[in-house]
Amino acid sequence: MEILKTKNLMQQWSKARKKKDKTICFVPTMGYLHQGHISLLEKGKPLCDELVLSIFINPTQFGPNEDLAAYPVDIEKDLFLAEAAGVTAVFLPQKEDIYPHNFQTKIFLDRLPSYLCGHSRPIHFGGVATVVTKLFHIVMPDVAIFGKKDYQQLQIIRQMVCDLDFDIKILGGEIVRESDGLAMSSRNAYLTADQRESALSLSRSIQMAAAAIANGEKKSGVIQNQMESFIKGYPHTRIDYISFCDPHTLESVDIIDRQILLALAVHVGKTRLIDNCLIAPSQ
Ligand code: PAF
Repeated sequence: MEILKTKNLMQQWSKARKKKDKTICFVPTMGYLHQGHISLLEKGKPLCDELVLSIFINPTQFGPNEDLAAYPVDIEKDLFLAEAAGVTAVFLPQKEDIYPHNFQTKIFLDRLPSYLCGHSRPIHFGGVATVVTKLFHIVMPDVAIFGKKDYQQLQIIRQMVCDLDFDIKILGGEIVRESDGLAMSSRNAYLTADQRESALSLSRSIQMAAAAIANGEKKSGVIQNQMESFIKGYPHTRIDYISFCDPHTLESVDIIDRQILLALAVHVGKTRLIDNCLIAPSQ
């Protein structure tokens, strides 16, 4: 496994592989790898000749009061896990290499970032789209894989790749959960034991909603009220949003008469957690 610490080295590596007609699968991350990331690497491994992982905590996707400074880091463990998962190259750039002095370009998406997480994180998806564009130009992948836990991010990347004619196949990796249902996230590391219990309110409220829909409830507002009361019953929780929406446009849906995306964000203590599920009404 090669470790490439500058964009020039990474680009040269990829160009050399392309010259030999090798295909490249790419999994971009901010590090502190968990089983969710590993499952993306496992999905990518058989798809291409090369498997590239990037680890870069992208400052432009964090708002001023978010957790950039506290974001967990364990590069040694990440490299160990990456090698075990069959990664052939790790791109590990410095901030100055990605955002040199006088950097001033940003990718702007019109509608998708205005829903769900975009309300409370207004600059987030612009930062994501910009860094992913740069990573795509540097790594030059044929296939790139993003986790479905960040469903809105995945939709935004798909839209951007389509709108800007990137010749890259975008795949989504399934949400990986702890045995009690908590969706895996690097941010789970912030939770105290008490908060860890309250964090279960997200996946449990999704299960509750899925059961209500299976029992024939079609009004999203009714289920949303039930979810809100349920989540508020757990200490340390503060709901950011609960949304029943169209899986493609992310526009909210009042009557559940087709498959919908149920997505939510909840602050548990100081940690903001997200989760989601695609749910179809019973026939
Ligand atoms: O999902 C993430 O870890 C990040 O948003 C990404 C895609 C690596 C961009 O910084």
